Amino acid sequence: MSSATAVGKHPVAGIAVDTSANCAAGKCPNCQIAYSEGVRWLTFAGMVATMFDRRRTSGANPTPTPQKEAIMSKAPPKKNDAVDLLDADHIAVKKQFQAFNKLAEAKAPAQKRKALADEICRALTVHATIEEEIFYPAARAALDDDPLMDEATVEHAGAKDLIAQIEAMSADEPLFDAKVVVLGEQIDHHVKEEREEMFPQARASAMDLVALKDQLAARKQELMAQAEAAA
Ligand SMILES: [Fe+2]
Ligand SMILES: [Fe+2]
Repeated sequence: MSSATAVGKHPVAGIAVDTSANCAAGKCPNCQIAYSEGVRWLTFAGMVATMFDRRRTSGANPTPTPQKEAIMSKAPPKKNDAVDLLDADHIAVKKQFQAFNKLAEAKAPAQKRKALADEICRALTVHATIEEEIFYPAARAALDDDPLMDEATVEHAGAKDLIAQIEAMSADEPLFDAKVVVLGEQIDHHVKEEREEMFPQARASAMDLVALKDQLAARKQELMAQAEAAA
């Protein structure tokens, strides 16, 4: 190898990749997440990058593992409205899922994994409730897109079912980690559709998203207080 190459650790696959060859901005060209390790110099980077490409394209690891994280879809522009409030929840819970995956990968004590999984479940339950009570009815009335709203409602039901299973489990039971990881993947898919289909339509509609933001915030505060009191 005639010249040194910049190498960083891919934040999702968890392996070394050639940052200079894949993306000059230090972000993965596929998921747009910044590499988690500082750039350093290695001489076998070309070989490592090739290994990464082979692993990514061959489906060599198709089963859900704590390392596997779906790609985070693009955030909507900030407008200080109901969409911003809901998307802030999406970003926060994505970070919690990433933290959980790290705990699972490190085989952290059951008590730690259970505490974080319960926090995730509480946050998702509050988020789904304010969407179902306030945002979805307003969107259904304004958007004239019942198939989109129906699909979102069914996805919420699926997530609630998995949340109930996780809440009822202890973290040292079989499949506990896998259930949390799969919940994260389902939420990624659901958030992508809200971000890419529902939110743009809502912003292009006559919905009063600023007034809705206040309603969502008030109800969220109330539900969080109840959830914390019950925890
Ligand atoms: Fe939702
Ligand atoms: Fe949402």
